[in-house]
Amino acid sequence: MSWQYRISAALDERRTANAFRTRFVGESDGTGFIHDGQRYRNFSGNDYLGFSRHPAIIGAWQQGAQRYGVGSGGSGHVTGFHQAHHELEHTLADWLGYQRALLFISGFSANQAVIQALMQKEDRIVADRLSHASLLEAASLNPATLRRFQHNDVGSLQALLSKPLSGQQLVVTEGVFSMDGDSAPLAEIHAIKGTALMMVDDAHGIGTFGEGGRGSCAAANVKPDILVVTFGKAFGLSGAAVLCSDDLADYLLQFARHLIYSTAMPPAQAHALSTAVAIIRKADDARARLARHIDYFRRQMAHIPLQLARSTTAIQPILVGDNQRTLHVAERLRARGLWVTAIRPPTVPVGSARLRVTLSAAHEDSDIDALLEALDDLSRE
Ligand SMILES: Cc1ncc(COP(=O)(O)O)c(C=O)c1O
Repeated sequence: MSWQYRISAALDERRTANAFRTRFVGESDGTGFIHDGQRYRNFSGNDYLGFSRHPAIIGAWQQGAQRYGVGSGGSGHVTGFHQAHHELEHTLADWLGYQRALLFISGFSANQAVIQALMQKEDRIVADRLSHASLLEAASLNPATLRRFQHNDVGSLQALLSKPLSGQQLVVTEGVFSMDGDSAPLAEIHAIKGTALMMVDDAHGIGTFGEGGRGSCAAANVKPDILVVTFGKAFGLSGAAVLCSDDLADYLLQFARHLIYSTAMPPAQAHALSTAVAIIRKADDARARLARHIDYFRRQMAHIPLQLARSTTAIQPILVGDNQRTLHVAERLRARGLWVTAIRPPTVPVGSARLRVTLSAAHEDSDIDALLEALDDLSRE
């Protein structure tokens, strides 16, 4: 099969299934997404606390750039590990109750790095079947065996964990599931994991839950062996950190190729992230406002004949099922000035296309009312 044929066939397949992905050039002004000269109320971002435009965090980034320059200048293993990274790692470890934190440029690379560095051929990765692509891809590329347990089903996890094995096991789950918005039963998973290491990706929980925003694990009073937090959601920036023991951090520093062979995040960004941590710790008002929005949205949606997922988090997916219908509803919402992305397979299982509505503390009540009114109208079409 020629390259030309292979590529065209793959593109045609996506188009025929209404699963072709496109990007939109746009600009954000907080809760608005400006595209082609028009402003849309944005219900698709992950800026759950509205901190991507926080003046103190913007100021810290500018200050960091003045002090450190705009780039780190190299891998952390060469000369790219600056005082700003060192301070942020200490702050994160202290805040989240771990011996160590290691910074990564993205959550995707953190998840890949941990799984690739830790797992060997004779081992088994037991992951929730709805885990993020960065986790499942790392697991499926790895020589270890990947077994996926039924979503949030501790019995299914236990059955897989108890199968005979000569190597070690890694249990993988998310704190809050990115496409469903529901939370993992972290305490139950922790209680049955036995000698397996437990890895929790709390990309969508950190900042929004738990005392001082310490995330899903703190809220469930669980300390996984490996906690991955990302900074592209509630923190409003980007990047990630892996929280773990001293030994595991030293091991990752030796063997995690994404750390060793990649330029460290700009120190100005690390400086801004330290400010973001300080702000997040005190952001109870923003968290309470977000919780009020979630509660209001769910109560009002109960009167609208659309299928809302069972989620109490900022991610409030509306399950539509069919790809074409989901795209159609997203387009109709856009025509009313509302930006809600249609999420389709392979990001979610076939037949479960959805509108992934996300709420932010930065939304005004009137934003949410506008969305509810449009959904109500569309549900009657
Ligand atoms: C659960 C989860 N983990 C990891 C990632 C990847 O993080 P990053 O965007 O920092 O690469 C995402 C999404 O972006 C996510 O939803």
